[in-house]
Amino acid sequence: MHNRKVVKVLTLDDFDLNGKTVFVRMDMNCPIDPETGEILGTKRIEETIETLESLKDAKVVIASHQGRVGNNEYTGMDKHAKVLEKLMCRKIKYVEDTIGEAAQNAIKNLEEGEILLLDNLRLCAEENYEFTPENAAKTIMVSRLSKLFDLCVLDSFPSAHRSHPSIVGFAQVLPACAGRIVEREVRNLDEIMTVAKAPHVIILGGSKVSDRLEAIKLLIQNGRADHVLLTGLIGNVFMRAQARIKSPLRIKRENDMVSKAHSLIGDYPDVFATPVDIAIDKDGKRVEMDVREISKGDKILDLGPKTIEYYSKLISGAGTVFISGPAGFFEKENFKYGTKEMLNAVANSMATTIVSGGHLTTALKQEGLADKINHISTAGGALVLYLTGEKLPMMKALEDAAIKYRTKE
Ligand code: 3PG
Repeated sequence: MHNRKVVKVLTLDDFDLNGKTVFVRMDMNCPIDPETGEILGTKRIEETIETLESLKDAKVVIASHQGRVGNNEYTGMDKHAKVLEKLMCRKIKYVEDTIGEAAQNAIKNLEEGEILLLDNLRLCAEENYEFTPENAAKTIMVSRLSKLFDLCVLDSFPSAHRSHPSIVGFAQVLPACAGRIVEREVRNLDEIMTVAKAPHVIILGGSKVSDRLEAIKLLIQNGRADHVLLTGLIGNVFMRAQARIKSPLRIKRENDMVSKAHSLIGDYPDVFATPVDIAIDKDGKRVEMDVREISKGDKILDLGPKTIEYYSKLISGAGTVFISGPAGFFEKENFKYGTKEMLNAVANSMATTIVSGGHLTTALKQEGLADKINHISTAGGALVLYLTGEKLPMMKALEDAAIKYRTKE
C-alpha cells in the first residue's frame, strides 16, 4: 500500500499503468448557460487534470455525464473536450458516441499517452437507472466496453451516490481504483469530520430537492444538523409545507416533496429556518417582498435582505458550517445577491467550513472567497449523503474491488 493513501481503497499508485487501456469515470457535469448552452464554470473539468497526469503513459478513456435527460443542462461533451484541451494544452480526442461501434473503434485505436472523451453517458438509456452492482455489471454498457479495458478508475466523486452502470458496474468486472479527486475528497473530509464541532449549521439550496429531502433526516439523526437553513427551490418546498406559499410551485412530484417537508417540520420543529423575504423576477427586474406577499405565478429567484441577516446570525454562531447549492438564480446578475451573501457569511465565520456543489464552487471562485474555506468540494448531493455517514455506492464498489484484488494477490 502506498503511503499517500488513507482510504481503504486502491489508488493509481497501486497499479503499473504503462500502456494500459484505462476507463476513467469522471464527473464533468458543469453549470450550463440556459440561453447559450455554454459551460459557465469549468471547475470540475479543471479538477480532472491531476488524475489524467498520473495516467500519462496509459491509453485513457474519459466517461462522464452532463445534465439530466430533458433538463436544459443536458448536452453533448464536445465543449468539455475543448475546455480540457485548452487547460491541458494538448489534444483531447472526442467521439460522439458512448457504447456503439464508433466509440469502440476510437478506444481500440488509442495510442499510449492519448486521451479520448466519450459523449454524454446518459445518452445510453441504462445510465439513467440505478442498479445493484451485480446487475450493473450485466448491462450492455459494461459488457460491451469492459472487454476493451485493463483498469477502471472511479473519480466522479460528485456522482458517487448514484448506482449507475458506469459507477458500480465496471468495478465488478475489472480491477478498479480511486482517482486523485476521490482520494483527496475522502482524505480531507475524514480529517474535517473528526474535528467538526457543534452547533452544525447546514445551508441547503439548489434545485435537486428530492435528494436533499432524503438526506436531511439522516443528517439530523446523526447529529450533523442542529440548524438547517433553507434557500433555493428546497426553501420554496418548505414554505409551501408551512402554507406560507399559497399557490402550487408547479414542480415535478410536488405533492410528494411538500408532504415529506411537512413531516420533517413536524418531527424536528426547531431545526428548520425558512426565508422571511424573497426576491422575484418582474419583467426582468428584481422585486423584493415579504414571504406573505407572494402571489400566484411569482417566480421566486432569490433571498431577500432580512433573510440574509437572519441566516447570517445563525451562521456566525456555528461550530461547523456546510453549505450546498446556490441560494438563488445566481447565473443572473439581479439574483446573485443571496448566494453571494451566504458565501460571505460562511467565509467570514469562525466555524469549520465546507462549501459543496458545482454551481456554488463556481460562485465562490467568482467572489474570490475560496481561500477562506476549509474544504471546497465540487460534489453536491453526494457530499450531503457522505456527511450523513451513509456508504456511497461508488465507495462501496471501490472497497469491494480492493478486497477482491488483495485476495488475488
Ligand atoms: C451532481 O452534479 O450532483 C452530479 O453530477 C450528479 O448529477 P445527478 O444529480 O444528475 O445525478
